[in-house]
Amino acid sequence: MSFYVTTPIYYVNAEPHLGHAYTTIAADVLARHMRQRGEDVFFLTGTDEHGEPVALAAEREGVTPRELADRNAARFQALLPQIDASNDYFIRTSDPRHEARVQEVMQRVHDNGHVYKGIYEGWYCPRCADFKTETEIAEGNTCPIHKIPLDREREENWFFHLSRFQRPLERIYAERPGFVLPRQRSNEALSFIRSGLQDLSLSRSKLTWGVPVPWDPSHVFYVWFDALLNYVTALSFAREGEDLSARFWPPTFQLIGKDILKFHAVYWPALLLAAGLELPRHVFVHGYLLMKDSSGEKDKMSKSLGNVIDPFEVMERFGTDALRFYCLREVPFGQDGVVSTVGFESRYESELANDYGNLASRSLAMVARYRDGVVPDVEVDAALVADFEGLGDEVCALLDRAELTGALDAIWQRVRRLNRYVEEQAPWQLAKDPAAAQRLDVVLRSLVEGVRAVTVLLHPYMPATTEKLLAALGRPELALAGAAFGAAPGGAQVEALEQLFPKS
Ligand code: MSP
Repeated sequence: MSFYVTTPIYYVNAEPHLGHAYTTIAADVLARHMRQRGEDVFFLTGTDEHGEPVALAAEREGVTPRELADRNAARFQALLPQIDASNDYFIRTSDPRHEARVQEVMQRVHDNGHVYKGIYEGWYCPRCADFKTETEIAEGNTCPIHKIPLDREREENWFFHLSRFQRPLERIYAERPGFVLPRQRSNEALSFIRSGLQDLSLSRSKLTWGVPVPWDPSHVFYVWFDALLNYVTALSFAREGEDLSARFWPPTFQLIGKDILKFHAVYWPALLLAAGLELPRHVFVHGYLLMKDSSGEKDKMSKSLGNVIDPFEVMERFGTDALRFYCLREVPFGQDGVVSTVGFESRYESELANDYGNLASRSLAMVARYRDGVVPDVEVDAALVADFEGLGDEVCALLDRAELTGALDAIWQRVRRLNRYVEEQAPWQLAKDPAAAQRLDVVLRSLVEGVRAVTVLLHPYMPATTEKLLAALGRPELALAGAAFGAAPGGAQVEALEQLFPKS
């Protein structure tokens, strides 16, 4: 089966911060997990380079939008190998191939009769690139997200007939309860739709940094139309000489932050209907990574609020896998949650270094010491079998709903179970008693097999560490089919391993 997962494309008006890395890491976990299941995976991410957010930032910095886009797109690209993202392509919306495809799709929307010329009058946030409705405006006509004054706009624009899609969208929400996940976000989007949809500006005439409207080149497309279509256009040129659309469209999971819910849960499906394209199977909406300020107030981590964690710095101190693990462990995926350096340190120490790292190195060391590095070829302990029963299926079912934190927790419960098992069985005591040799065989074999089983399942979360550990266990296979406890035979030659998560 094909599995197509996307992240939002990030604005190049600033450098990447941990909030951007977060969505990409989450998408990467899904992509890697699905590859382990043998699915045909395509994972897309990229940068959103047109529109006011970028044009205004460039103006402030005294450079051209293209210069700013080139500089920051390179930074977003450089982040990917550092967070170990296994994306199959990186799209930039300033790519002429994207621009040409946007024009084609939008021409179709026009020809299908969903476009007309009109006058837009209302409030606009140039940072969000969003025409705000009355309910989305904060006190003093300010943007509730960026906390800046909104612009009063009046201009002749091309309009998209969004209002026509109110009923079709309501029907989609009724028929497909899993279209937008989690449930609460689906309800929010539906109530926005039910409150009445107004037609939407589709073009801007004041701006030149964008994709020209083919039927009226004095306008460029409103940046969101250009941006949303990246999910469609990339498939047509990501592989030289090949169009991947038939193979991967529609997307299986589109991950977004809750800040862009309206665009992806309302505008996006309407646009696809207008263009005659199939809708994504799921749009998953995650929450914000929040930072506490000195007075204890929580706020969204964002460049404009100046409270960002630099992912590069964190990775330098703790390593990439620790960052990936922390983000998905600390903040239930789908909800908001506070992140902090203190939180990193504490999870690193108690869960990565102690629960997992120590378990792995102890298990390997005991096989080396008591059995010359060869895992005893005996049956696994029946006492553990029941605790691992169904774990792989449970993880798959959770990840089929993008419940990344839930799946990680299910795995971690088994990591803890293995720690209790070592304490209960005390192999160092068994080793002193020649009559307990067979029992020691079973305990060592079960421990190593348990560590292997959780490690295969943890691979999408911590790719480098798990690969290292599986190699040391002499069982490097990643396929999920082989993850079941007891699936790998005994008899492997193991190697000693330095601490996976050294304490500083
Ligand atoms: N360019 C648009 C998206 C277009 S998609 C067709 C945009 N870009 S953005 O650079 O502002 O990135 C927004 C996304 O970055 C969020 O939806 C989320 O995925 C991620 N995040 C940015 N800050 C974040 C947090 N503080 N917490 C969690 N995610 C955050 O909007």
